[in-house]
Amino acid sequence: MAITVQPITESFAAEIGDVDLARPIAADDLAAIRAAFTRYAVLVFPDQHFDDDSQLDFARHFGPLETTVFKARKDHKLRLHENLADVGNLDVENRILETNDRQRLYNLGNRLWHTDSSFKRVPAYCSMLHARSIPPIGGQTEFADMRAAYDALPEETKRRIAGLVAEHSIMTSRARLGFSDFDEGEREAFKPVPQVLVRRLQDSGRMSLYIASHAGAIRGMADGEARALLDELTRHATQRQFVYSHRWRVHDLVIWDDRCTMHRGMEFDDQRYARDMRRATVADVAPTCEQMGLAVAAE
Ligand code: OGA
Ligand code: MN
Repeated sequence: MAITVQPITESFAAEIGDVDLARPIAADDLAAIRAAFTRYAVLVFPDQHFDDDSQLDFARHFGPLETTVFKARKDHKLRLHENLADVGNLDVENRILETNDRQRLYNLGNRLWHTDSSFKRVPAYCSMLHARSIPPIGGQTEFADMRAAYDALPEETKRRIAGLVAEHSIMTSRARLGFSDFDEGEREAFKPVPQVLVRRLQDSGRMSLYIASHAGAIRGMADGEARALLDELTRHATQRQFVYSHRWRVHDLVIWDDRCTMHRGMEFDDQRYARDMRRATVADVAPTCEQMGLAVAAE
């Protein structure tokens, strides 16, 4: 049976039915999913009964997988496979992380609007987040459409930001929350990388803003001015008309296009309820400056 595509919003989010992603997938179903993913930047697949291996196998159809950032830290024990980002609130023994646990404080950065891995030279193409357990209240994930947000900018702003290059580092987003506990290996791994502020998507041909809380400086611009511009663009791009808010059901898989969305996790009582969420992330094809034909000097 062919998959179903049910729009949730007109052109940003859709729900996909009649497919079991934990089993080998038919080529025409995969093609239909990829076609839907070119139009809708967020796809929701209810009722997917993955284990870690089947989740990773499905993700590999979209490209090479990223390795979790926690691997950069020598004293960090991974709870999950190194290709899965552990975005829940559990420790290696599946107990709720304590308030001052480093991993909890670090993951609080997910509450800020961001796109995944824009702090890597080759950033993420897409993320695939699976809900293994969820709190009964709170903990939604919000997504904002950076293509629609770009289209809605005044022409003058489009001209002003064309060709600009921002510096992204995970230390920038964490610093916003007062978190600076990085060891030497992490400081080396998390040095700022250049990313274009505006990109064209190769598959749909649409233009998109490319911003995140990881962005701090803009090349050739004074720091204060850069920060003000990034804040202004973020405010514009996260207005309600550009946002889809996902209320999780257990076993939902949500996949989003990191090239043209931002997302953030909403609050929940994380000292009371377990939230076990596992993310596979597929790398993009090249650095964004290269994709946009910009030669960028190494720092
Ligand atoms: C992520 C993320 C937010 C959430 O998985 O990349 O930012 O709601 N998640 O868990
Ligand atoms: Mn994220």
